[in-house]
Amino acid sequence: MGHVAIVTGGTRGIGEAISVALRDAGHTVAATYAGNAEAAKRFEERSGIRTYKFDVSDFEACQGAVDRITKDLGPVGILVNNAGITRDGTMHRMSFDRWNAVLQTNLSSCFNMARCVIDGMRERGFGRIVNIGSVNGQAGQYGQVNYAAAKSGIHGFTKALAQEGAARGITVNAIAPGYIDTDMVRAVPEKVLEKIIATIPVGRLGHASEIAKGVLFLVDEDMGFMTGSTLSINGGQHMY
Ligand code: CAA
Repeated sequence: MGHVAIVTGGTRGIGEAISVALRDAGHTVAATYAGNAEAAKRFEERSGIRTYKFDVSDFEACQGAVDRITKDLGPVGILVNNAGITRDGTMHRMSFDRWNAVLQTNLSSCFNMARCVIDGMRERGFGRIVNIGSVNGQAGQYGQVNYAAAKSGIHGFTKALAQEGAARGITVNAIAPGYIDTDMVRAVPEKVLEKIIATIPVGRLGHASEIAKGVLFLVDEDMGFMTGSTLSINGGQHMY
């Protein structure tokens, strides 16, 4: 059965692949974005998927958007917390603003969005929440105290919410992508990126579609016994 699915940051990169995969699997997708209206318009034309512009770090904006999506498309059965930013830099050069922007956008957003859909999921006895973490939240990364802390927080958030949702038919899982071929990763200085790729046993960057396949697996109605897990999709870069 198809559900209404929200994918935050769903118009570009990993989020775009997730939105399209969910659409192809028969779900009605709302793809959200924060700023890049031009990219969102192109995405909407290409995919036929509706887009919604709001800031996931702003709780009231999330409430307004979830209300609108529910009115437009119906009650939300699937939430993919994918939106994320980087503000890389070593600690001794990092401003509070760069720390805070990443924590709010990457981690507080998960609370904001989940809080807005959880009551409905509890009432209906069904929900699938997938949070996109990162290999860098598992292993740490030079120059990313902000990003690693936020992504690591996502993994804890996932396990706690999974325990709360379990008795109500709501599963909550995370995916920890490695380095995926997206604009975000391509923004890493070339020399640094070359060194990182050399540490990936599979020998290449991942494809966004490989993360989307993981999401499809986790949101399957028949996967109600899988909750609180983290699926690592990282080319073997980090195993534990
Ligand atoms: N471990 C140890 N030392 C390191 C290091 C590492 N991983 N990376 C850099 N260094 C060292 C360098 O060798 C250099 O030392 P020397 O001066 O002795 O040569 C020193 O640290 C400074 O390095 P940079 O010249 O790179 O410093 P910078 O201030 O110009 O830049 C940085 C620092 C912004 C952190 C830059 O190194 C960088 O962009 N690194 C990549 C961070 C990264 O992986 N980001 C991932 C973004 S994508 C993402 O996050 C998606 C995901 O989920 C995976």
